[in-house]
Amino acid sequence: MRIAFTGGTGKAGRHIVPWLRARGHRVLNLDLAAPQEPDNQSIDLTESGQVFNALSGYCWFDELDLPEKPKFDAVVHFAALARILIRPDNETFRVNTQSTYNVMEVAVKLGIPKVIFASSETTYGICFAQGEKQPDYIPVDEGHPVVPHDSYAMSKVCNEACGRSFQARSGIDIYGLRINNVITPDEYARDFPAFLDNPDLRRRNIFAYIDVRDLGQMVEKCLETDGLGYEVFNVSNDDLSVGLSNAEVRARYYPGVPVKREMAGNETMYCNAKAKRMLGFQPEHSWRDVLG
Ligand SMILES: NC(=O)c1ccc[n+]([C@@H]2O[C@H](COP(=O)([O-])OP(=O)(O)OC[C@H]3O[C@@H](n4cnc5c(N)ncnc54)[C@H](O)[C@@H]3O)[C@@H](O)[C@H]2O)c1
Repeated sequence: MRIAFTGGTGKAGRHIVPWLRARGHRVLNLDLAAPQEPDNQSIDLTESGQVFNALSGYCWFDELDLPEKPKFDAVVHFAALARILIRPDNETFRVNTQSTYNVMEVAVKLGIPKVIFASSETTYGICFAQGEKQPDYIPVDEGHPVVPHDSYAMSKVCNEACGRSFQARSGIDIYGLRINNVITPDEYARDFPAFLDNPDLRRRNIFAYIDVRDLGQMVEKCLETDGLGYEVFNVSNDDLSVGLSNAEVRARYYPGVPVKREMAGNETMYCNAKAKRMLGFQPEHSWRDVLG
């Protein structure tokens, strides 16, 4: 497929873009901080004109030799201010909502049939809450209320609303990924010993995580699966990011929180069953592969 991938220079994108390329896709990285290399372009996605141009343009010079300019099959939109406290709150909200609106609007108006966009676990309101906030129930699935208190998560909820509306208007496929905390392979040895020593460190992530390689698989499953209309999916690995069992986490952190169904020994509290059921997502990695 010919794919425009925004935010390909970022933490997740710099793993997923090369991986998609290795799988045979042509991927144009669109990022404020794109390197001056083939299939990369610097862009400010908050400027609609730039988005219109890039999504109707070339990946690189070799495409000039084709009989006509090819079209994109999909946009994967990962660019964002990826948390609070990078820029002032109002800027986080403005950049994330305006850029996502632009990407979706342009995709619809150019007839690009699929948009996959990064939403976030923060939409459930726990990650950047003031003080301690517990889920309404566990495991947290896509039906859990989204009432965030912070500008970053508010921007993601707005993006989801825009995605739903653009899909309803156009009929294209728009899939939102409520991604949990992204972990790169080098971070297991560096960060997880501290998580095992002190599980409190993972409370704000609902004790979950997503290996960036499994996130790449999730993106590819979304690229391969057509016709779902508008959907949001939790994206996480199968196990907890701490050394406690599911029952121990519940007893220590979630006493009194309703438990919706039986959960297995190390099962994540961040339910990924919908992605498995509708897309065939099957995460393959775990911190246990590295730390035992
Ligand atoms: N990292 C996580 O743990 C995590 C968790 C949940 C959701 N997400 C979401 O996943 C996506 C990717 O996250 P990441 O960790 O790779 O983020 P990142 O901050 O590492 O990368 C984001 C990229 O977006 C680019 N960007 C920012 N504003 C832009 C603009 N106006 N125009 C063009 N490019 C712009 C930046 O240059 C950067 O390369 C984001 O949407 C983020 O909100 C990340």
